[in-house]
Amino acid sequence: MLELRSLSRHFGGVRAVDGLDLTVADGQIFGLIGPNGSGKSTTVNVVAGLFAPTAGAVLFRGRDIGALPTHLRLREGIARTFQNIRLFGQLSVWQNLWVAQNSAADRARQGFFSRWLGGQAGVREEIGRLLEFSGLAHKQNELAANLAFGEQRRLELARAMAAKPRLLLLDEPAAGMNSEEIGQLRERILKLRASGVTILLVEHVMELVMGVTDRIAVLNFGQKIAEGTPAEIQADAAVRKAYLGGGAA
Ligand SMILES: Nc1ncnc2c1ncn2[C@@H]1O[C@H](COP(=O)(O)OP(=O)(O)O)[C@@H](O)[C@H]1O
Ligand SMILES: [Mg+2]
Repeated sequence: MLELRSLSRHFGGVRAVDGLDLTVADGQIFGLIGPNGSGKSTTVNVVAGLFAPTAGAVLFRGRDIGALPTHLRLREGIARTFQNIRLFGQLSVWQNLWVAQNSAADRARQGFFSRWLGGQAGVREEIGRLLEFSGLAHKQNELAANLAFGEQRRLELARAMAAKPRLLLLDEPAAGMNSEEIGQLRERILKLRASGVTILLVEHVMELVMGVTDRIAVLNFGQKIAEGTPAEIQADAAVRKAYLGGGAA
């Protein structure tokens, strides 16, 4: 699904990502972990098209997408959530999902008006399903800005899903959540995978990463220092030293 080849992204003298090789297979939940500043968000931003690579290649379904702008990557099937929530605060929950729906891959080739005339019933149904999925049906007319933090996180995930991605990039989706919310997020992530979505999960909350991922890569100073199953990563001495500080996090 996704392959990074010797990917680098530098900011001036900072090697945020430095020669990263990574392969995420179809249907996997792939975890990307590492200390603060190790290059996780930069990796997500390069895959999503926010930053161009300084060197190396990003292959999506076998094709080099390094030069594709963000909105075209969305059409190709790459959606993401942000480490810091970015919603349309002055639009309702429903409207946030409607806007995102219009970027959906299977609608990319239709004109706006034929979509408007022909597709509204289907769109409403799908938004209804997304509201159900995220437990926000009763909040559909609230302004996004007025939602509680956990609800905003849920809406962000639903909005990313509205674009019907093949690959979903999640940048610290559990940040600021309590353990009940983390449990619900875990269930949602597993449901998404069951529906066929491949997921790259950047996360600090070890309880979540170790519980849902098939495979994990560990970054430190922009370089991969380990890769393996959750059990292998937990047992890896270099990882414990660099990331877990010798103890459990
Ligand atoms: N837009 C940017 N401009 C300059 N430096 C950046 C930018 N984005 C990230 N960095 C730097 O790149 C490094 C990696 O950051 P980041 O990818 O956000 O790490 P992480 O998500 O793992 O915490 C940090 O040193 C950070 O300060
Ligand atoms: Mg980050």
